[in-house]
Amino acid sequence: MWGIPSKHLLLLSLLLFILLSYTHYPSAETTTHDAPLMEDDLNATVTLMEGQLPLIISVPHGSLQLPATMPNRTSGQLIADAYTISVGHQLSHLLQQHYNAAPYVVILNVARRKVDVNRPLDQACESPQTRRVWEHYHDVLQKTVDTVKKKYGHGLLLDIHGQAHKEGMVELGYLLTSDTLRSKTDDSKLVQHSSLRSLASRLETPDTLLRGNGSLGYAMMKGDDSVQVVPSPAHPAPRKESLYFFGGYTTERYHTTLDVIQVETPKALRFSKEGRKLLSNRLAQGTIFMLDQYYLSDKSKL
Ligand SMILES: *[C@@H]1O[C@H](CO)[C@@H](O)[C@H](O)[C@H]1NC(C)=O
Ligand SMILES: *[C@@H]1O[C@H](CO)[C@@H](O)[C@H](O)[C@H]1NC(C)=O
Ligand SMILES: *[C@@H]1O[C@H](CO)[C@@H](O)[C@H](O)[C@H]1NC(C)=O
Ligand SMILES: [Zn+2]
Repeated sequence: MWGIPSKHLLLLSLLLFILLSYTHYPSAETTTHDAPLMEDDLNATVTLMEGQLPLIISVPHGSLQLPATMPNRTSGQLIADAYTISVGHQLSHLLQQHYNAAPYVVILNVARRKVDVNRPLDQACESPQTRRVWEHYHDVLQKTVDTVKKKYGHGLLLDIHGQAHKEGMVELGYLLTSDTLRSKTDDSKLVQHSSLRSLASRLETPDTLLRGNGSLGYAMMKGDDSVQVVPSPAHPAPRKESLYFFGGYTTERYHTTLDVIQVETPKALRFSKEGRKLLSNRLAQGTIFMLDQYYLSDKSKL
């Protein structure tokens, strides 16, 4: 054929075959830990659901996905906040039913063992790929925060987490430590240093916002105290010996633009279907109170 000896033709097609397979289909061997993250892969690491309310629900630690292309972290807190994605979805669903409008939802689809997006970048990851995941998550969340701010002038971000502290309470984080919450300082002062400082500056009497009858803790326990919340009128501060999370990187970073509350849900409620339902219902009741009271005075924008 065309004067090319068949032995050479065979060699040529073999060469061509090898060349094609390498250009189009990276083999298992080329997908090493140093492989770059493709744009499609990066996009899939974060779920964004657009909303029509001045409310963002973020879930940074719920995923159990361990992509083989990303190295595991070797230090820091590595355990997932199990079932928090389910809680986030249920809360979103209940709010949507109530308002006929959805909150914004931002979910990380990569396990905390790979990257912790509620930590500053230097403590969040140990590889270039997971660094890009961290950056992508905060790109998406920052844009969502900016969108809500621009559209509504203000808004609330609920950062949903899970803990296994023995008190079994929902812990609300306002960037005020356990010691600060137990101090004798007046709440009208404390709230100015909290992650609700923006809301506080809009109110004439902001002193009920943290644990008075204008607080999320109050509204979550109102008429049904089957879920205990701290801080709240019933539990104004954590006990001295108790563990309590007061808010991490996300609360710290975004509270200068929106109001932020870190919501730490207890394991006892998360690990059963009934518990998650109860928890989501209490959270929805509290969130609806907050939205009606402070964020939706101009309902015509809905
Ligand atoms: C991922 O890509 C799709 C399609 O282009 C887009 O609609 C979606 O908003 C992207 N997700 C994120 C989190 O940016
Ligand atoms: C990462 O950690 C998980 C869970 O411990 C383990 O199953 C997996 O083999 C590890 N992957 C790598 C690449 O080390
Ligand atoms: C909270 O209590 C004050 C004073 O008792 C009352 O004026 C106010 O209406 C109450 N607010 C709510 C949301 O119940
Ligand atoms: Zn968490």
